[in-house]
Amino acid sequence: SVKDLYTKDLEDNTTVSLEGSIKTIRGSKNISFIELNDGSCFKSAQIIVKKSNENFEQISKLPIASTITVEGAFVKTPDAPQPFEVHGEKVELVGRSDSDYPLQKKKTSYEFLRTIAHLRPRTNTFYSVFRIRSLAAFAVHEYLQHNDFVYVNTPIITSSDTEGAGEMFRVTTMDMDNLPKDDQGHVDNSKDFFKTETNLTVSGQLPEEAFTMAFKNVYTFGPTFRAENSHTPRHASEFWMIEPDMAYTRLPGMMDVAEGLLKYVINYVLDHAKDELEFLDENVKPGLIEKLQKTASEDFARVTYTDAVKLLQDADVEFKVPVEWGIDLQSEHERYLCEDVYKRPTFLTDYPRDIKAFYMRDNDDGKTVAAADCLVPGIGEIVGGSEREERYDVLNDKIKEFDLNPEEYDWYEDLRKYGEIKHSGFGIGFERLVMYVTGMENIRDVIPFPREPGSAKF
Ligand code: 4AD
Ligand code: MG
Repeated sequence: SVKDLYTKDLEDNTTVSLEGSIKTIRGSKNISFIELNDGSCFKSAQIIVKKSNENFEQISKLPIASTITVEGAFVKTPDAPQPFEVHGEKVELVGRSDSDYPLQKKKTSYEFLRTIAHLRPRTNTFYSVFRIRSLAAFAVHEYLQHNDFVYVNTPIITSSDTEGAGEMFRVTTMDMDNLPKDDQGHVDNSKDFFKTETNLTVSGQLPEEAFTMAFKNVYTFGPTFRAENSHTPRHASEFWMIEPDMAYTRLPGMMDVAEGLLKYVINYVLDHAKDELEFLDENVKPGLIEKLQKTASEDFARVTYTDAVKLLQDADVEFKVPVEWGIDLQSEHERYLCEDVYKRPTFLTDYPRDIKAFYMRDNDDGKTVAAADCLVPGIGEIVGGSEREERYDVLNDKIKEFDLNPEEYDWYEDLRKYGEIKHSGFGIGFERLVMYVTGMENIRDVIPFPREPGSAKF
């Protein structure tokens, strides 16, 4: 593969063979220079084909994206920009590309590339993004497994709404035009496939907690779905979430794990995606590598919601939404805190209980919960987490207070009934992490085939 040529320290004049796709082709009547790419690494191999080659006429006129095989001598080129070239002795066409290949050399906009999401992984930018996405996923598993976390697969089709925000995609086999109704005229879900209403999961957290009680440290890492109608650069309808959950752990310990995991992923990508990061740093997001090195080497800030509200109220900025204790902070407020005040990832803790989910543990002040979100410059919220309410009676009252159906949560309350184990956990939006690490500014550009309101092509 092309990667072998870069990594195997071959001697001059070794005969090598390659099969790949023509990325660029230029030359004259007597010689052609081909950049050949086979996807094995970011870089291409320079192939030289001379007029003396029997296929010269055919090869030198091929449209880019055509596939060829090459056999020839590997020669180091210490004085050229590229470290070596391959003198193509046997060069054969395998598959011809149509000449209207839309990824010609000129720069194309991200908007246009989203319309050809099936071709964009072949561009330098998207190749880099998706290689980094893969490395980041591996690093997540590696960090958690090395720290004795057990990977749990929670259901995708579920009958519970973890976040209670009602932003779920219905899963049904019923004929939507002729829904069966019960005596009161309500949809009769007992006639449906699972004999109950089911949805795509918004978070694996609640079923996951059953495993926290058995294994101490657990995590999920899988797809989640939200039917929120937000057209923002950081919301997708289908995204992946990493959800570590830890028994015998309080909020500060939870933040340590979140910070450790984020830094591990950043360091892993810095070490394993040098070519891709250099390309992104030069062409997409100047300063990216320096930003990542800085994030990996300094402590994240930690501040309570109440103190953050004071900071925002004293700020010399006119916010579109004025700040009062009790509001759900908007993206403008979150970004001001991590970009202007702390200039680094920032944990915001102890939010008002009324704006957070029912399962978060009440603090003694009666007004706040032991929650922590992590906000990062350029994106905003990347992590949402909390201590879980482990006290049976308090949880029972909260389920009623939040207007949830206690019958649906009997199993969840059992987890408290048998031990009241203190535990904490959090969710990282995997795409938001990939955005941070690649410098991409739109979540649609870090998902291979994004799903968003009004669009589910592919
Ligand atoms: O803050 P959220 O809603 O928290 C939970 O779902 C908890 N059950 C997690 C837990 O404690 N186990 O979501 C967690 C993270 C957010 O911080 C954000 O990064 C990401 O998931 N997220 C989204 N990412 C992309 N598109 C969306 N629509 C997202 N909604 C949340
Ligand atoms: Mg959240």
